Amino acid sequence: MNRFKPDLTDADVTPRHIYMNRRRFMRATGTVVGGSLIAACRMPEETAEPESVEQAAPPAQDAAPASNPEPAPANPAVVKDYASLTDELGDPLNSFHDISNYNNYYEFTVDKQRVAGLAKDYPTSPWTVEVGGLVDKPGTYTLADWDRFPQEERIYRLRCVEAWSMVIPWTGFPLRMLLDEIQPQSNAKYVAFQTVFDPERMPGQRGGYNWPYTEGLRLDEAENDLAMLVTGLYGDPLPMQNGAPIRLIVPWKYGFKSIKSIVKIDLVEEQPTSLWMSAAPNEYGFYSNVNPNVNHPRWSQARERRIGENGRRETLFLNGYEDQVGYLYEGMDLKANY
Ligand code: MTE
Repeated sequence: MNRFKPDLTDADVTPRHIYMNRRRFMRATGTVVGGSLIAACRMPEETAEPESVEQAAPPAQDAAPASNPEPAPANPAVVKDYASLTDELGDPLNSFHDISNYNNYYEFTVDKQRVAGLAKDYPTSPWTVEVGGLVDKPGTYTLADWDRFPQEERIYRLRCVEAWSMVIPWTGFPLRMLLDEIQPQSNAKYVAFQTVFDPERMPGQRGGYNWPYTEGLRLDEAENDLAMLVTGLYGDPLPMQNGAPIRLIVPWKYGFKSIKSIVKIDLVEEQPTSLWMSAAPNEYGFYSNVNPNVNHPRWSQARERRIGENGRRETLFLNGYEDQVGYLYEGMDLKANY
């Protein structure tokens, strides 16, 4: 059984001068990101002794995203100077190229740099999401339905359990808006998510794990404003490798909680078991909150490598979003509830 493997390579870095150029741009334009939240990080300095690589997580291919200078705006009608934007901590965005060419999407491959090529022709339209379970208003949502929700762009940090991170401008809407619409019943305690199951077109699903990919949140976590359903990246529709046509983003949790290409959302009473919980229950718990004080059994979570940077930076508790989500875990033992 493959499992995640810590990211230990510094090979994939965007040259420093590129970020310096971006910062100059930012100062020049003074662009502001609406609804942006947080950011932070660097990378793992030490690692737990990886057990044998075979049995360690997905053979993490950490070669590095070939860095690309500046992302060209795909839609010239909407000229937004992304190079001038930062997260709320002042860190620049990762390039569109890096975000869309260094992916974890095991349904296609465990090789981060091959996901984009394998996923590019996957049909994402038509696409329906069945929303139901313990709700008063279940429904089948089509692509057009997502447009009914006010879309906003937010810059979030994504911190992978493998100890690398990026700063990413997503477009979408708070999951809470969907929950308000479907009206959870009083016995609904959790939200369960499921990715499309299509082993014919997704070679990774032909073995290895308990497919389809599933994830879950406690209902109050799902109702937090930071939890987003995302349909866009860098102002354009979400590429398949990033989870098109619609995915979850929960920026205070390790990246694997942010399930891609969702086809089913259910409100349930019992805590759902995710794919990763069933694959390695001693390594991946239900909560999986970013926490520098709770190490992965096989490596440290104290630091991380920001893609595009040399060296590593400190990992922030709850990925730097403690002010927004800390209340959810008051009184909880976060070591026991990993
Ligand atoms: N969702 C599905 N369905 N399959 C996956 O393999 N990988 C997770 C998460 N969501 C994954 C997934 C992991 S480990 C991470 S770090 C993020 O997606 C990566 O998202 P990105 O490729 O958009 O950066």
